[in-house]
Amino acid sequence: MKRRRLLLPSVATALLFLGLNNLAFAADSPAKTLDEDQMAQADCVGCHINVNPGIVKQHMEGPHANTKKVEDEVRCHDCHGVDHKTMDDVEKASMPTPEICGECHKKQARQHRDGKHNLAWLAMKSQIAWHGQPGSITEQGYRGCSGCHKIGEKGLLAATQGNLGDVKRDGGKEAATYRYGNAQCDACHTRHSFKASEAMDPRACSNCHMGFDHPQWEMYTSAKHGIVWQIEGHVNEGGRAPTCQTCHLSEGDHEVRTAWGFLGLRIPTKENVLALIDVAPSLKEPLTKLAGLLPSGHYMDVDDDPQWTFDRALILQAAGILDASLQPTERFIEIVVQGQAARGPEEFNVERKKMKATCNKCHAQGFVNEHFKASDEIIKAADHEFAKAITAVQALYKDGILQKPEGWEYAPDLLQYYEAKTSIEQELYLIMLEYRQRTFQGAFHASNDYMHWYGWAPLKTAVNTILEEAKRMRAEHDSKKMAAK
Ligand code: HEC
Ligand code: HEC
Ligand code: HEC
Ligand code: HEC
Ligand code: HEC
Ligand code: HEC
Ligand code: HEC
Ligand code: HEC
Repeated sequence: MKRRRLLLPSVATALLFLGLNNLAFAADSPAKTLDEDQMAQADCVGCHINVNPGIVKQHMEGPHANTKKVEDEVRCHDCHGVDHKTMDDVEKASMPTPEICGECHKKQARQHRDGKHNLAWLAMKSQIAWHGQPGSITEQGYRGCSGCHKIGEKGLLAATQGNLGDVKRDGGKEAATYRYGNAQCDACHTRHSFKASEAMDPRACSNCHMGFDHPQWEMYTSAKHGIVWQIEGHVNEGGRAPTCQTCHLSEGDHEVRTAWGFLGLRIPTKENVLALIDVAPSLKEPLTKLAGLLPSGHYMDVDDDPQWTFDRALILQAAGILDASLQPTERFIEIVVQGQAARGPEEFNVERKKMKATCNKCHAQGFVNEHFKASDEIIKAADHEFAKAITAVQALYKDGILQKPEGWEYAPDLLQYYEAKTSIEQELYLIMLEYRQRTFQGAFHASNDYMHWYGWAPLKTAVNTILEEAKRMRAEHDSKKMAAK
């Protein structure tokens, strides 16, 4: 364990400190002199016990002030530096990033950095709908997107040359414009207790993994796993029921990632796309070109039905990830490659195998395989319904019944979210971000109600509404044209 050495000596307000601290040196012998670290700690604590008693109490009762070995004790200045010393230089206190935590917790910091959570800020900023919302929702205020997505690292830059999968770092520039919210690790281990037990409780995930487009908390607590966890007294490890952490941070691995991901997308393989040519020969040229850019391989468990590949190509097109001639756009690079919104076959299979092995600890292989097969098929069914609705809206644009809004690069554009200009496109957005999400996420989390009544049922309703509305708009357009003649 590497300890950050103190560079500057400070004046100790040791007497105040001795009164409230349980440190060994105090018990040892009052005559023993304090070293620089202890003096600095006495300063911070001595003043802050009056300034923010809650913070001092949590720190003093927490693991960092009560380490197994006394000499490992972690002090305020290990995370905040020593430059701030008085009431008047508060801005000199520094705020920790995962690098600071990582000086002592290398493994967790590395896993987190390599994982999906670290990409959360980049993924948020890759969204066209993120632009143009008030800053208190998307940036400094942390009252919306940014409040949840601050679990990700700031200042990740998309690589524009070389390996497009790489991300570069801006050397702390973006983070420096934020006073708070760069710590990331405190998303699950809240300050200043920093408890492992808190992070192991599924409720620790529930402030973010809930609600509109990712109600994992609601699904978990309405499925047998979460219900048993509740009935049996919230046992987090070694209990009968798995928690979010059992399945997603197994063995304490901080590198969270799932096979399908948030959007239930995957990168089509070369083979998938070439197989499509037989079904749609007129698209031979663009499909051959597209196939040349894609990885080769096979997704375990998942079938290669060309209709499904086609449905998914339409979804990617409506999201502006593939263009009108089915070629990848800059969004493909930013969202799919760099934000890792979809996995290729190699990564998918690794994650799927890992997850199945976790289920196998409590369930039979056959039972687990059935569960995954059914859930994968539900994505396929949802994609087919979604594609019908997309086709109808695309045709409205093609036939001039809808006009591309000014400033939009693509239309329809699912990633405009709630900025969509027509009610028919508002429905399409709800399918993408609410109903389809709930359908497959509910299936994987064994919440039948979310899968069906909050997912599939409104999805079908919305598709029917869209088809009906498209018909009506078309008729209205035709009769206007007739009248004009
Ligand atoms: C003489 C009193 C005093 C001493 C000594 C002191 N602080 Fe502070 N500190 C303050 C005050 C006052 C604030 C402002 C608190 C507020 O706004 O509620 C503050 C704020 C902070 C902040 C938050 C800064 C922010 O922008 O929100 C941190 C972190 C901090 N102190 C850490 C430390 C550390 C670490 C030490 C010891 C190296 C220390 N303090 C020593 C009085 C002190
Ligand atoms: C100077 C070294 C150091 C730094 C910096 C540090 N820690 Fe720790 N941390 C420790 C030590 C030492 C322990 C306790 C291990 C022991 O009991 O011996 C610990 C324990 C923990 C635990 C486990 C607590 C438990 O309930 O068992 C968590 C979680 C944790 N730290 C998170 C963090 C986070 C998050 C940061 C950054 C904001 C951080 N640490 C910064 C040294 C450090
Ligand atoms: C502060 C909010 C926050 C908390 C707390 C949080 N997450 Fe996340 N989580 C996110 C965000 C945002 C993403 C999306 C990151 C991305 O994909 O760029 C995410 C992504 C994930 C993913 C990856 C899904 C995929 O795309 O494959 C998993 C799994 C996950 N979280 C599980 C958990 C678990 C389990 C917990 C609790 C131990 C947890 N998260 C706590 C915000 C949070
Ligand atoms: C293990 C690392 C760690 C230690 C030790 C630590 N802090 Fe913090 N502190 C944090 C983190 C993380 C934040 C949140 C930073 C952010 O939002 O970017 C924080 C924020 C703060 C804040 C401002 C935010 C708030 O909630 O008001 C104050 C004040 C503060 N710490 C004081 C202290 C004092 C005093 C001590 C010692 C008793 C201490 N800290 C010890 C990690 C630490
Ligand atoms: C998504 C939630 C989440 C985030 C974010 C997170 N942790 Fe953890 N952390 C956990 C969970 C869950 C455990 C308990 C793992 C276990 O023992 O099974 C844990 C355990 C730990 C432990 C104790 C390990 C042990 O063996 O006792 C340390 C130390 C730790 N985390 C440090 C960090 C650091 C440093 C960061 C930031 C780089 C971080 N964590 C970010 C969820 C999280
Ligand atoms: C019994 C194991 C299990 C539990 C418990 C569990 N999950 Fe999952 N989770 C899964 C499986 C399986 C998938 C889909 C994996 C795949 O893509 O193949 C998944 C997918 C996810 C995803 C990606 C999007 C999605 O929903 O399909 C996130 C995020 C996530 N889970 C978070 C959570 C959170 C947060 C909790 C706790 C509230 C939780 N999970 C509880 C097994 C579990
Ligand atoms: C309540 C917390 C919360 C809010 C608010 C929120 N998100 Fe998220 N976001 C998450 C979580 C959690 C995930 C991961 C869910 C999953 O994998 O199922 C996520 C996933 C994402 C992803 C997918 C990342 C990927 O690679 O799969 C994008 C993009 C995204 N959010 C953008 C945004 C934007 C833009 C906003 C605001 C307009 C926003 N989010 C608001 C919590 C939130
Ligand atoms: C720690 C043990 C444990 C793990 C790990 C676990 N389960 Fe379960 N599971 C249970 C228990 C206990 C029940 C409730 C009793 C029963 O139905 O067998 C249950 C029930 C279920 C049910 C039945 C729900 C119902 O309504 O009938 C399904 C489906 C299921 N689990 C799937 C999975 C899948 C898939 C995984 C892995 C992603 C998994 N489980 C991981 C313990 C576990």
